[in-house]
Amino acid sequence: MSDVSLTVNGRQVNAAVEDRTLLVHFLREHLGLTGTHVGCDTSQCGACVVHVDGKAVKSCTMLAAQASGSTVVTIEGLSDGTGLHPVQAAFKENHGLQCGFCTPGMIMAATDMINRHPEGLDEATVRAELEGNICRCTGYHNIVKSILAASQAMAKGKGRAKAA
Ligand code: FES
Ligand code: FES
Repeated sequence: MSDVSLTVNGRQVNAAVEDRTLLVHFLREHLGLTGTHVGCDTSQCGACVVHVDGKAVKSCTMLAAQASGSTVVTIEGLSDGTGLHPVQAAFKENHGLQCGFCTPGMIMAATDMINRHPEGLDEATVRAELEGNICRCTGYHNIVKSILAASQAMAKGKGRAKAA
């Protein structure tokens, strides 16, 4: 067993877990954060993406014990609680989801992508960066459209914040 201590969605969490427990299973089964999905057993689908210390990580590729000491944000903690996060809002407005299974991972990967590209994004970059996320409904066109819209909305929001 390993003792793990981490911050998840702003909450301090301490637990004793089996050494082999993956971060995704810790989030879903120990903490009940089932918005993070498991879509494969080969680390290919990206349905399990969360942020670990601000970076998108496939939570099926990391042990819970390895995440000890980190700050983790899942889809449940992405919004500040006052409404949808701009990336969530853009997916809603641009029909960026069909069944929704891949959506939490897509949104967490997209948020990290936008944060790493403050200069803005173009379609080719979004498509290349989404290589690690699979949508079985194959709705990639609207997912890309959603991410481009979110990138623009977040850049405008930052501009407004600077002007204020
Ligand atoms: S469940 Fe992690 S990549 Fe598929
Ligand atoms: S919306 Fe169904 S898997 Fe992507």
